[in-house]
Amino acid sequence: MALVPVTDLLERAEAGGYAVGAFNCNNMEIVQAIIAAAEAENAPVIMQASQGAIKYAGIDYIVAMARLAAENTHVPVALHLDHGTSFEQVIQCIRAGFSSVMIDGSKLPLRENIALTRRVLDAARAVGVSVEAELGKIGGTEDDITVSERDAFFTDPEEAGVFVNETGVDSLAVAIGTAHGQYKGTPELDFPRLEKIKSIVKIPIVLHGSSGVPDEAIIEAIRLGVRKVNIDTNIREAFVAASRQVLDANPREIDPRKVLGPAREAATGIIREKIRIFGSSGKA
Ligand code: G3H
Ligand code: 13P
Ligand code: ZN
Repeated sequence: MALVPVTDLLERAEAGGYAVGAFNCNNMEIVQAIIAAAEAENAPVIMQASQGAIKYAGIDYIVAMARLAAENTHVPVALHLDHGTSFEQVIQCIRAGFSSVMIDGSKLPLRENIALTRRVLDAARAVGVSVEAELGKIGGTEDDITVSERDAFFTDPEEAGVFVNETGVDSLAVAIGTAHGQYKGTPELDFPRLEKIKSIVKIPIVLHGSSGVPDEAIIEAIRLGVRKVNIDTNIREAFVAASRQVLDANPREIDPRKVLGPAREAATGIIREKIRIFGSSGKA
């Protein structure tokens, strides 16, 4: 099958009350792990490329791997740009073959974020590519911010209503207490805020920074309208831990396949677990 737009997958998820996993990929082994997990679970899946992935692997390699993966499987696969930084980068990715993009204007004032998102939408719509935007600031666990600063970064439900009305964007990433990377403690999600946002905004909601969020909290967020759940850190942890285990047990190992093979298997395992938690098992 060809790569499909994220919207196709999220519309079905909305109707079925589940979420689709969006897994960050940086190399061939992770692409293969994502597909192996989706096939084993018979689940739709989103592969996404971050800014770091684009720097590391390059846009063309990412597209080539994702296309090949999609063509050789029966499960629906989307390739999504994660945290797109500019109109120019979005266009580059669309031209290269991405089926979906995120434009992250969350650092901009509301009006500028709306204007940038609209510009991206105009271009993406013309070629059948879906668009995710971000409102509120999600940030990283390494950002040293106080609780009151954190609350100030949360997505304002009324603003979300204005943003979605004026842009017509396909899905919206919200800041409700998650952060990218490894958490120091247990993240507390602002469920009343999510519920308010979802009562105003009728499009699929995206949860970033989902690694390390307790399963019950993810399940509750999905019940309240999250339809795309982003996972990167948990894949990195599983991949590197398995590589480390091989090297610790056999410090003289020189065959990369002996290191990366178990890493790929470990990544497959954690992705399968996530797919089950998100409720998208069997939904291919
Ligand atoms: O956006 C979130 C990613 O987990 C960070 O990715 O370090 O590959 O740019 P990166
Ligand atoms: P984690 O690395 O915290 O899972 O976040 C992934 C993400 O949100 C990518 O956009
Ligand atoms: Zn993110």
